[in-house]
Amino acid sequence: MRIRTAKMLAERIDLNYFKRAPALRRWRYILSIAIPAIAVLWIAGYAAAGIRRPYSAGPVSSAHAFAEMKCEVCHTSANAPAGFRAHVSEKACLTCHDAPAHVVNQTPSPACVNCHVEHSGRVQLAKVGDGLCVDCHGDLKTMQGAPAISTTVGRFGSRHPEFAAAREGAKDPGTIRFNHALHMTKDGVRSLRGIEILQCTDCHKAARILPPQGGSHELRVGLMSAANYQQNCARCHGLEFDYRIEQPAPHDKPEAVRAAVRTALQNYIAAHPSEIIKPDDPRRLPLNFPPAAEPPARNATEWVARRADNGERLLWSRCDVCHARTGTVTVTVPQAQPVADPRRSVTVTVSVPAFAASHIATRWMVRAAFDHTPHLMLQCVDCHAAENSQLTSDILMPKQATCATCHAPSRGAEARCFECHQYHDWRKSHAVSPAFKLTDFR
Ligand code: HEC
Ligand code: HEC
Ligand code: HEC
Ligand code: HEC
Ligand code: HEC
Ligand code: HEC
Ligand code: HEC
Ligand code: HEC
Ligand code: HEC
Ligand code: HEC
Repeated sequence: MRIRTAKMLAERIDLNYFKRAPALRRWRYILSIAIPAIAVLWIAGYAAAGIRRPYSAGPVSSAHAFAEMKCEVCHTSANAPAGFRAHVSEKACLTCHDAPAHVVNQTPSPACVNCHVEHSGRVQLAKVGDGLCVDCHGDLKTMQGAPAISTTVGRFGSRHPEFAAAREGAKDPGTIRFNHALHMTKDGVRSLRGIEILQCTDCHKAARILPPQGGSHELRVGLMSAANYQQNCARCHGLEFDYRIEQPAPHDKPEAVRAAVRTALQNYIAAHPSEIIKPDDPRRLPLNFPPAAEPPARNATEWVARRADNGERLLWSRCDVCHARTGTVTVTVPQAQPVADPRRSVTVTVSVPAFAASHIATRWMVRAAFDHTPHLMLQCVDCHAAENSQLTSDILMPKQATCATCHAPSRGAEARCFECHQYHDWRKSHAVSPAFKLTDFR
């Protein structure tokens, strides 16, 4: 055990310390002048070399990295000399690219740089925060007219309204009768080739359809094609109308169908004149369609007229399976009977059925930019309850909760507004004329 006495402790103190003090003080003096001087020289050196990194507020976004050291492309303003001290004006941004306004009736827009925040690292600038969207949409005001949309919109999954197409009272504008459940049975459906088990993608394909207004930015929308008669229905719901004629009637306007039926029959009988007096084979006629009236036709025109009436009636009943009949229309058609006197009228009016326009929607959520492509790992029926749907009027659109399974901050897929919405109305974009030269970026 050591014993500490006062003397032993005192011996630790260097009694000559004051003799070294001037050395320390001198260094302090030298450094207090040298460090600022070095800093000034360092900055002056950068300035002389045209390097501006020391003044920067941090790295710019990845898309702008190519211009990072050309501060003045952004830091310019009309009434201040260009340079990094100038504020960033909207004009600077618009020199390089177009950014059409949001909507016509909005209150004044925030500045570009409030949404697209620079100098915060190599970020993707288009990934803007929700704050400024919710500033307006949390309590929406418009410059004129009442808003057509919900006025209290907040974070997706909680304060965001249910999609219009998934709300109570939503309507399907389509008029084509279609029963998904009947066609999607596990045992398959009957077709000319035998039994077919239909898949969703037999009728709906991920397509790149341009909405009517066009615009380059709409191209990315990966919508699904609507079913189409020729590719998706014809092989099972054919438009054959006479057992003698293999070629089905065209899928066209009723007057065109009527004309095609007559032309086909005329061509047939012209090629087989001996059949003018041959009666129809009753076994090959469809049910409820009696053989053409006896006695046998006197000529080709009479033969055609009799068969055409039956063929047409059969076809209209086929159309009725899928189309909603709205009544009849009168159309003017060439007269069937050839006339001797060419000055006499050669047209007659006949009446054909009228059908409602099909109106199959190709876009259900026009206010968002949904894209099927990143979702093709999911089964279609996870989002569209089509398997049990029997009526065209059933709405098969998913609800917000389905999307929020993944699109939520805690679930990994992006849940900020920009993921699903466009802010700029890109349909109104204009080409920007180049304002820079290659040497500006050397
Ligand atoms: C791609 C455009 C862009 C480039 C290039 C750019 N900046 Fe910026 N900078 C901005 C924006 C946007 C702001 C924030 C808005 C404002 O201050 O006007 C900003 C802000 C700043 C600020 C903070 C100013 C303040 O008032 O808070 C400094 C300092 C700055 N920049 C320096 C620089 C320097 C130095 C360079 C070149 C090395 C540079 N910037 C290049 C866009 C740019
Ligand atoms: C010197 C020309 C130039 C200037 C000035 C400029 N940009 Fe850009 N910007 C580009 C280029 C080039 C791209 C990359 C190509 C593209 O995405 O179109 C880009 C991309 C962007 C993107 C998409 C980037 C992403 O990855 O998310 C945004 C948003 C953007 N700029 C906003 C702005 C804003 C806001 C300003 C004004 C502060 C501005 N830009 C000034 C040239 C410029
Ligand atoms: C209220 C926030 C907000 C304001 C203000 C804003 N933007 Fe945007 N900007 C966005 C969002 C969100 C996107 C991504 C969605 C889209 O394309 O509309 C975007 C996308 C962009 C793009 C990228 C386009 C691409 O190629 O994908 C550019 C460029 C752009 N903005 C420039 C500007 C300019 C220039 C201004 C000012 C005139 C501006 N923005 C004002 C929110 C804003
Ligand atoms: C300055 C206010 C303001 C800001 C900021 C704003 N909006 Fe809007 N937004 C409006 C107004 C006003 C309408 C049109 C309302 C109406 O007439 O029905 C609108 C319409 C919309 C619509 C419906 C568009 C359509 O086709 O009908 C969407 C979606 C939308 N905004 C999303 C956003 C997103 C996402 C942001 C942020 C990037 C944003 N808004 C920022 C004011 C704003
Ligand atoms: C034989 C062709 C065919 C097959 C197979 C088919 N569909 Fe359809 N689908 C249609 C037709 C025709 C319509 C338009 C009539 C309607 O709205 O029901 C339609 C409409 C739709 C719509 C939009 C209409 C709405 O009301 O929301 C969705 C979504 C859809 N189908 C999903 C599916 C899914 C999912 C499957 C697979 C389980 C599937 N379809 C299989 C023919 C088909
Ligand atoms: C693989 C063969 C097949 C395809 C492809 C097909 N169908 Fe059918 N469809 C059937 C069969 C089989 C029936 C049942 C016929 C019966 O017995 O009445 C049927 C019945 C129908 C019915 C009557 C159903 C009811 O509810 O009474 C309609 C309407 C219909 N299909 C529309 C369509 C449309 C529209 C398409 C194309 C988008 C289509 N079908 C494609 C085989 C098919
Ligand atoms: C098996 C179902 C089915 C039958 C049978 C059918 N159609 Fe269609 N028709 C459709 C579908 C589906 C569309 C929409 C997509 C397309 O154009 O193929 C359509 C579209 C049309 C169109 C285009 C105009 C519009 O409204 O989209 C005309 C014209 C038409 N049909 C006429 C007829 C006539 C006439 C018949 C009878 C001779 C007939 N269709 C029989 C399913 C059918
Ligand atoms: C993650 C959910 C999701 C999945 C999975 C999905 N869809 Fe969709 N589908 C949607 C949404 C949302 C819309 C509305 C898009 C719009 O019109 O803007 C839509 C629209 C449709 C439409 C109507 C036409 C259109 O594009 O608007 C059809 C048909 C359709 N989907 C078929 C399918 C088929 C077939 C599959 C499987 C291959 C499938 N969907 C998978 C969400 C989904
Ligand atoms: C995961 C995708 C997703 C996200 C994230 C999202 N939305 Fe939406 N939003 C939609 C869809 C889908 C619709 C339905 C569009 C339609 O009916 O045409 C919609 C509808 C809207 C509408 C129209 C509402 C109405 O009354 O019809 C507004 C406004 C809107 N969103 C704003 C926002 C804002 C602001 C944010 C961010 C806080 C946001 N959304 C985030 C998908 C999204
Ligand atoms: C199983 C998870 C899952 C579900 C459910 C889901 N998404 Fe997504 N979604 C993703 C992933 C993963 C991506 C791509 C990565 C990302 O952007 O986060 C994506 C991307 C998107 C995009 C961006 C597309 C693009 O091309 O930029 C939109 C818009 C979108 N989803 C909307 C929706 C809507 C609306 C629903 C509901 C109808 C939905 N998602 C349901 C996982 C999902």
